[in-house]
Amino acid sequence: MKQEDIAIWTEKYRPKDFDEIKGQDEIVKRAEAFVKKKNMPHLLFAGPAGVGKTTLTLVIARKLFGDKWRENFLELNASDERGIDVIRVKVKDFARTRAIGDVPFKIIYLDECDALTKDAQQALRRTMENYTQTCRFILSCNYSSKIIDPIQSRCSVFRFKPLAKEDILKITDKIARTEKLGIDSKAKQALYEISHGDCRRLENIMQSSAAIKNKITEELIYSVASAAKPKEINEVLNLCVKGDFSSAKNKLLDTMLNHGLAGLDIIKQIQQEIWRLENVDSKKKLEMVKECGEAEFRMVEGSDEFIQLEALLSKFVLVNIQVS
Ligand SMILES: Nc1ncnc2c1ncn2[C@@H]1O[C@H](COP(=O)(O)OP(=O)(O)OP(=O)(O)O)[C@@H](O)[C@H]1O
Ligand SMILES: [Mg+2]
Repeated sequence: MKQEDIAIWTEKYRPKDFDEIKGQDEIVKRAEAFVKKKNMPHLLFAGPAGVGKTTLTLVIARKLFGDKWRENFLELNASDERGIDVIRVKVKDFARTRAIGDVPFKIIYLDECDALTKDAQQALRRTMENYTQTCRFILSCNYSSKIIDPIQSRCSVFRFKPLAKEDILKITDKIARTEKLGIDSKAKQALYEISHGDCRRLENIMQSSAAIKNKITEELIYSVASAAKPKEINEVLNLCVKGDFSSAKNKLLDTMLNHGLAGLDIIKQIQQEIWRLENVDSKKKLEMVKECGEAEFRMVEGSDEFIQLEALLSKFVLVNIQVS
């Protein structure tokens, strides 16, 4: 077996150059300009999972430092390194020597910065100040609101977006072509819906599906991703709208057992499908969505998921039989 055959697709298809990074056009343009000038400020990358934050960082490092990029690049994870002290020691060691080559700084990539406490972020801020001469920091987080202001004001903030449908489709097609997979338009739509613009999720589901069959169908995707089909959830909701509580309950239970779903998985799908219901007015939809929020909160707090889901369905029925 060749090395390529066993590679994880998220690595195999990780863009190596700026123009392969989909979706984040403005961000990529600004990053290219930094590289050209061989100068950049500290950066803060904010955005959801699997949209190119780490990828862009690696491209910047490769382009700036060429072959020598590994010597000039340090990647740390704020949540699994044991606290800010470990980070400080590692940064100190790394920043002690000058960058190799003609770029006057090294790059330190610190992933999951929103996992750091406020105190740890203060310490990080001081570390950033101490090593500004020799290093540039690229900080990555899901929510920029969790990053203290003094850090935000020291960084250029870049907001990454979930990938749009057309970009997800382009990536799907490219992988299908390279891997010689059969895939129809229904399956592509399913991949888009399940990925929510998260490219890592897309690639992982494609790889798991391809390991089972060369022809990728909607059916296969939902089973691999352990998600219910939108149609199944839609049926449950329609039964509620019609006032048929017990059929709705049985259908939901069936669906959950079939796909091995937990309450928290299915409630997200339920919430999405509410908006697609036909024949339900928007005020009722709002009430239904509000109930999803309540039930989700209780489940996160540890309440029994089956009781919560049953209560949720009964509320859906009640909302819809109210005389308006
Ligand atoms: N914008 C994009 N264009 C093309 N491929 C992408 C893009 N974003 C992500 N990918 C693919 O998804 C994989 C994961 O992306 P990446 O590691 O950059 O995510 P991330 O934004 O750092 O997410 P996290 O917050 O979870 O660390 C990449 O290896 C690449 O294959
Ligand atoms: Mg990342």
